[in-house]
Amino acid sequence: MQTLAVEAPAKLNLGLEIAGVRSDGFHELRSIFSTVSLSDSLTVSIEYGVSGINLRCSGIPSPEGKSNLVWMAAEAFLEAAGISKNTAATISLHKNIPSPGGLGGGSSDAAAVLLTLGKLTTIKLDLASLAERLGSDIPFFLLQTETAYATGRGDILKPVKLPGFHCVLVHSGDNIPTPFAYKLWDDNAGGLTEACPRSNYTARKFGAWHEGKPFPVKLDNQFLPLLRRRYRGIDHAAEELSRLTVNWGLSGSGPVLYALFRSGEEAKNAKEHLAGKFPWVLRCQSR
Ligand code: C5P
Repeated sequence: MQTLAVEAPAKLNLGLEIAGVRSDGFHELRSIFSTVSLSDSLTVSIEYGVSGINLRCSGIPSPEGKSNLVWMAAEAFLEAAGISKNTAATISLHKNIPSPGGLGGGSSDAAAVLLTLGKLTTIKLDLASLAERLGSDIPFFLLQTETAYATGRGDILKPVKLPGFHCVLVHSGDNIPTPFAYKLWDDNAGGLTEACPRSNYTARKFGAWHEGKPFPVKLDNQFLPLLRRRYRGIDHAAEELSRLTVNWGLSGSGPVLYALFRSGEEAKNAKEHLAGKFPWVLRCQSR
């Protein structure tokens, strides 16, 4: 049996603009993805001469069967590689990233499984095409880059340079499945959403973040006004974060919101202020 241990990072969406609905039903996005120091931990093993997928989960509860993206990724890899009949994959997943969270946790886990099975088997597959079938955020995590400007479904990616940041993440306590958030946008598009400035995304390098200035990427997220109206927890978290700093936003389609700070000290103070007001508050930083 061969085993590898790997970390699967969370991402934040630093701004998110929905440009419209595509003919395949997915939405055309513009966003900057940035990984942070929060991650899930995985160990992936393969054994030849036997078959099947075994998944054990710990940490934040997540499904241990076929409905887990990790399972789907392992199955997709073994089948595409033509080795599913004589190779077993055993995966231990320790979840620290809430899901659904808007932090790409499940997608990051799936990307980590695809990359690790590639290493263990030394079989080279077109992982991007496997990822396309599994989830829109997986291509970003396959890149293994810290920051990227994403368009398309979130799968067309260009590396960008951003200043580093400290951050506090807040789970609003709401359960917001991603398809539901997109449906909400479909049902309300144009009426409730606010325009996001686009010029912000044309740069590839965002320079420094100076004392007393806003973070150089606009953090508007077009899901936010819709979700604030529907979920009291989101509205409460938005209210609290906006009192602390102008540099705050919603990640993906939520329910995790974040505030960015230039120093660890400011982030520490913010975390102390928010702790106890929300079910999950975490301090971390850009990678
Ligand atoms: O691809 P992923 O599994 O993350 O997407 C979950 C759901 O979110 C999709 O089934 C779709 O309803 C919606 N989605 C979308 N446009 C995107 C990403 C996700 O409509 N760019």
